[in-house]
Amino acid sequence: MESEPKDQPESPAPRTVGIIGMGAVGLPLAALFARTGLELVLIDASEERIDQLRRGESPLSHLPSAFVDLLGNATVTTSAEALESCDVAIICVPTPLRSDRAPDLSAVRRAATDAAEFVSPGALVVLESTTWPGTTRHVLGKIFEDRGDVDLAYSPERVDPGRVNPTREGGDLLGAGVPKLVGGVTPKATARAAALYSKAFETVIPVRSSDVAEAAKLVENIHRAVNIALVGELKIAFDAMGLDVWEVLDAAESKPFGFTRFDPGPGMGGHCLPIDPFYLSWAAKRAGAETRFVELSGEINRAMPLFVADKTRSALRSIGVDLAGARVLFLGVAYKSGVGIVEESPAFPLAEALKADGALVTYADPLVPTCSLGDSVELTAERLAETDAVVILVDQAGIDLDLVVESEAVVVDTRAALRTELLGSSRYFMA
Ligand SMILES: NC(=O)c1ccc[n+]([C@@H]2O[C@H](COP(=O)([O-])OP(=O)(O)OC[C@H]3O[C@@H](n4cnc5c(N)ncnc54)[C@H](O)[C@@H]3O)[C@@H](O)[C@H]2O)c1
Repeated sequence: MESEPKDQPESPAPRTVGIIGMGAVGLPLAALFARTGLELVLIDASEERIDQLRRGESPLSHLPSAFVDLLGNATVTTSAEALESCDVAIICVPTPLRSDRAPDLSAVRRAATDAAEFVSPGALVVLESTTWPGTTRHVLGKIFEDRGDVDLAYSPERVDPGRVNPTREGGDLLGAGVPKLVGGVTPKATARAAALYSKAFETVIPVRSSDVAEAAKLVENIHRAVNIALVGELKIAFDAMGLDVWEVLDAAESKPFGFTRFDPGPGMGGHCLPIDPFYLSWAAKRAGAETRFVELSGEINRAMPLFVADKTRSALRSIGVDLAGARVLFLGVAYKSGVGIVEESPAFPLAEALKADGALVTYADPLVPTCSLGDSVELTAERLAETDAVVILVDQAGIDLDLVVESEAVVVDTRAALRTELLGSSRYFMA
């Protein structure tokens, strides 16, 4: 790790950490820092979210309210002025795409502008939002141009909502045991960020620059997005050839080296994978380079729900039911099991495709009580008796799949959730 240059005065140990953005990233991070004994100032632009936190309620279905209790007597506010008491500010706000698939850094710019206005002299400001390499150095650098006293760094978040990560004490949902990368715009910023995060994380890995840390985060997510697209494409090819992709993957996985298994699904969702890779495409294009894998995997992943729609259509046809007027029940609409997050869920483009042909779509997901498809219904034998096709999108906790096995509905299974029970049945279709 690069140490603080000798000719600079040592920065005092941080006392008050401000975290901007109390979402899937900022909230667990706040709970981790609360355990360090540092003072906390927690800021969110949403009044509703701040009110929830003040009432001790978790705004996120995968983080129980007990995590909000961990925040103790932290200041919780919508007011950026509260950053005045902070010698550290960490930015965890959304980085979506614009409609032309270019990065939308407006929330980052707003949060950074607030930090530049209010943080205390000599503060450390860390960006955690996923973004293109160069954002901290250039975009934040410009915003902090008149704050030469402030050190800027980047530390990518590796949170996987709902995952219990191993720690020295056993495991937790917060990610204390997940190695944390930090990279500063200067060696001094790197050293300060490493010292700060070492208080909350078991392993901190300093890298040479903020640009490297930003790029590493994109590589992690692109690696996943490309491999999910690849296995999705293989699934479609094997299906056409009469081969069961799951059986093939089980066989391939027996190779003890050089193969990493990714499982197919109905398409890709969540805050990260459908979006982050395009931050790299955009930045690479600006630099005159192409990222064909990124573009192609995006295309394949976005098309996957249409394959499931086609399978549902042919599954229904096999029992003489036309899609127009067919009663289709989705099981699980969250983007993955164990969470209630529906952003970018493939359930929505699939529902759109089925509804366009006249299907009547309902869903059951105990972790998503309501969404743009309506309210979650209860999965009962009676409901299944009134259902033409069940489409398993997520093997969601709390869904009793035995009821589906016992029913007469056609089953379209994108997760191989009932493969053991129903493979070979004339009403079972893998998709
Ligand atoms: N969710 C994940 O699993 C995950 C994992 C790794 C990285 N990331 C990245 O972390 C960043 C944050 O993602 P998230 O999932 O926590 O988002 P989120 O939507 O769950 O939460 C973001 C919060 O920021 C608040 N906010 C927006 N603009 C603000 C502003 N200017 N000032 C104060 N508050 C503001 C919003 O009200 C919201 O509560 C994104 O860049 C995302 O790509 C997310």
